[in-house]
Amino acid sequence: MILIKLGGSIISDKNKPFSFNEGVVRNVAAELKNLYPEKSFILVHGGGSFGHPMARKYGIRGGLAAGETKKLIGFSHTHEAMLELNEKIIDIFLKAELPAFSISSSSIFITDKGNIVHGELKVIKEALKIGLIPVLFGDVVIDESKGMDIISGDAIMAYIANEMKAEKAIFLMDVDGIYDREPGKKDARLIDVIDETTVIRHGMEKIDVTGGIKNKIREAMKMDCMVYFINGMVKGNLTKAIKGEKIGTIKKRK
Ligand code: IPE
Repeated sequence: MILIKLGGSIISDKNKPFSFNEGVVRNVAAELKNLYPEKSFILVHGGGSFGHPMARKYGIRGGLAAGETKKLIGFSHTHEAMLELNEKIIDIFLKAELPAFSISSSSIFITDKGNIVHGELKVIKEALKIGLIPVLFGDVVIDESKGMDIISGDAIMAYIANEMKAEKAIFLMDVDGIYDREPGKKDARLIDVIDETTVIRHGMEKIDVTGGIKNKIREAMKMDCMVYFINGMVKGNLTKAIKGEKIGTIKKRK
């Protein structure tokens, strides 16, 4: 099984609330169409301009204090925004005759202080067995200590990669891989291979409630499998990573 994360920055324009980048998702579907069902896939997508602004508006990461019923409404609204984005993605896969199947992360994960402490993976495993392509997403989550939190697609990737022994994990981003400083900055250098010693100097994205690139790398380091960070806006890149060609930034298998 190959795990693929569609980063929020490729499926939506982070500067435009509720914007959807249909063409990019269509390209991903077209590439997977050539490889399925010989290969099996689990997809995870990010929140982009659907999830992050909502999570910020309702302060979901701050958790739930006693009597904060308004926040519960915000919790559900944030989830609904993610479902809206998820439906757009699923529709494109179905049109390409790929059996994408939506599984809400908030229905199968529980966190404690932001870390996943429970993941109900049986449905995903059985779905894969019958040939479905499970599609999860960064979502709201019930947290044992905080009451509520946001679970990032990157944390879901790490959890599933290890629990289900993924063949490889691929992160689709809007840049060519991991850079040692903000991509586009003078002297920014694309890193070929990252490991525990890699140091990167990036500022924080304002829109991002889940920790941006640093959190992505932290999660990738937990994974036992080979990890690719590639530009998901460029047609053909995903196929190259799946076939094991040299592309983007990699993290080697542990
Ligand atoms: C965030 O998921 C989900 C919400 C804000 C509800 P991610 O952290 O995986 O999203 P991206 O990829 O950064 O947009």
